[in-house]
Amino acid sequence: MNSVEDVLNWADKIFNQTGEELTPIQKKILEGAWKGKKHREIAEELHCSESQVKKEAAKLWKKLAKELGEDLKKKNFRYMVEEKHSASKNSRLYQCLLQHDNVNIGGQFIQTIEDKKRRSPSSPDTTQNKNQSPIINLKDAPKLTCNSHRTSEISTLKQWILESNIHLITIYGLNGIGKSALILKLVEEINTEFDYIIWKTLDDAPQLSTLKTELKEFFSQSQATPLSTIIDYFRAYRCLVILDDVENIFQSGELAGNYLPDYKNYGKFFKQIASLSHQSCLILISWEKPREIAILETENKPIKTLHLKGLEQEEATKILKPKKLTDEEKFSDLINIYQGHPTWLNIIAIAIMEVYDSSVSDFLAEQNEIYLGDLETILESHFERLSPLEKKVTYWLAAQNEPVHISQRPTNNELSKSEFSQAIQSLCRRSLVEKKELENQSVFHLNPVFKQYIITKQK
Ligand SMILES: Nc1ncnc2c1ncn2[C@@H]1O[C@H](COP(=O)(O)OP(=O)(O)OP(=O)(O)O)[C@@H](O)[C@H]1O
Ligand SMILES: [Mg+2]
Repeated sequence: MNSVEDVLNWADKIFNQTGEELTPIQKKILEGAWKGKKHREIAEELHCSESQVKKEAAKLWKKLAKELGEDLKKKNFRYMVEEKHSASKNSRLYQCLLQHDNVNIGGQFIQTIEDKKRRSPSSPDTTQNKNQSPIINLKDAPKLTCNSHRTSEISTLKQWILESNIHLITIYGLNGIGKSALILKLVEEINTEFDYIIWKTLDDAPQLSTLKTELKEFFSQSQATPLSTIIDYFRAYRCLVILDDVENIFQSGELAGNYLPDYKNYGKFFKQIASLSHQSCLILISWEKPREIAILETENKPIKTLHLKGLEQEEATKILKPKKLTDEEKFSDLINIYQGHPTWLNIIAIAIMEVYDSSVSDFLAEQNEIYLGDLETILESHFERLSPLEKKVTYWLAAQNEPVHISQRPTNNELSKSEFSQAIQSLCRRSLVEKKELENQSVFHLNPVFKQYIITKQK
């Protein structure tokens, strides 16, 4: 097995055995893994988020593990393939892959602990002053470069964090909507207001005890006498902790925001951060709004939630312009259909370039329903997480032509009133159902692109 083509053919054959085909995203992941690329680099090529690539890759390795062995990962993929096809275990390439540094460092303002070891963090009463040398660790943050910025969301977040001393902020929204990009930009703008900033991903669902140990290690590296708890650090210093990919500690197949069995203690931790007095902030980034947060919000605690939606027209246009698509006057139609969602727009722009000679008009003229293409895989990640109850409601909503009032539930008695309300509430917490006001009443409808995905799935 010498080339990427050989590997793709080989993987395709394995998929064909179960009547499946490799999707374009899976092909790119295989190609990237073969060439030793990082998830981030693959995501950049695919114009989707790093976590999307990681999730797709996990599924892919699971499938190929049957052929190659249970501990298959991106890092050892090439080795396992070569091993299977009698290549040498000691090949130079394998050694390189094992040494491949997976750590990725975000923007230019990052400073390492080593650089800062001798620095003494400011005491609580001096944190009003700008801290010119905060200790920052963004190793876990995705590396993103965006040419447009969400100024209004940034200013809301700044106000919450810097003026209102909000302790716990949840940012939730669809995958690839730009949650991590937004917080990276925020960190870039407010990092001097803090003593410590750390970004942790919950991608591998760490136990809370592991996370706390890692946080304490980070805080204590510049200290002669380490403090006992995270809250002690939150009180003594101004800390900003970002937990990204929080959906990984929620149970798939259940209503949104329910913790995995061994992860309920995270809820208590979040409640503690929200309830106790300190001068720090914890930001949670998630596909789903955690249930606890919804309850805490009613208790007058210093917490806030931001539901992140698509980009405004002007900002979304900045994504399309560099792609050199023609018919700029039609950009706004495209942005409306794909809701200013940066990942969706990037993916659709590629389809327009590849299949419609970059003509937005030709693309729009051809479609009598919303074109999905490579978006299907992205939408599938959301669908897969739904509970059976939510799936039922989703199918029913997809068959409705108009938004529905909560009293208009399915008439076949399959669902009780409370089950229906629960499902709608949960789908809203996943951003898959949207609520709007119609004639002074709240009505609900499926996100139109997701609706198209459900309709296509049923065909
Ligand atoms: N404001 C923006 N302008 C232009 N592109 C953006 C913007 N925000 C995000 N993007 C692009 O959209 C893609 C997804 O962004 P990001 O990773 O922040 O999404 P996310 O919501 O964190 O996704 P996930 O939930 O899967 O982690 C990236 O390629 C990023 O460059
Ligand atoms: Mg993200």
